[in-house]
Amino acid sequence: MTPIDKIRAPIQDIITDKGTREQKLMRVCEFLHTEVPVFDWVGFYLADPQKEKNLILGPFVGEPTDHTEIGYGVGICGQSADTLHTFVVQDVNKESNYLSCSPTVQSEIVVPIIKDGTFVAQLDIDSHTLAPFSKKHQSVLEEVCQDLVAIF
Ligand code: SME
Repeated sequence: MTPIDKIRAPIQDIITDKGTREQKLMRVCEFLHTEVPVFDWVGFYLADPQKEKNLILGPFVGEPTDHTEIGYGVGICGQSADTLHTFVVQDVNKESNYLSCSPTVQSEIVVPIIKDGTFVAQLDIDSHTLAPFSKKHQSVLEEVCQDLVAIF
């Protein structure tokens, strides 16, 4: 386990290490999934290069999901891609615009990765715990997503 305020440096090491973008994103998923106990599903959705305003599922760790493509504005992921804002949902059961991956998921955080003002990808994390995300989780994950711009 790594405390949330200590996760940025090891992720910076993954970013600057060798490997393709896909491999690095997968290592970031594995690291966050292993090191932060409340992060039960960790993945990236990428801006679809073929279809405007569409998200494509990228590397992830956790249960497989049916949501391999999501339109902007749809679900928590699509709303984050559309607005360029972080979405913190402490109880997904209270959300109407939400796409369920699994009934065990209770909460979700989605952080956009924005390069030169343009949405390029997002980090999506699901938790089986209700209200697990602190302001510190949000701010550190936002810093990580700023660091990840380097590989886009
Ligand atoms: N719950 C997301 C869909 C993606 S899965 O969590 C992997 C949403 O509402 O956009």
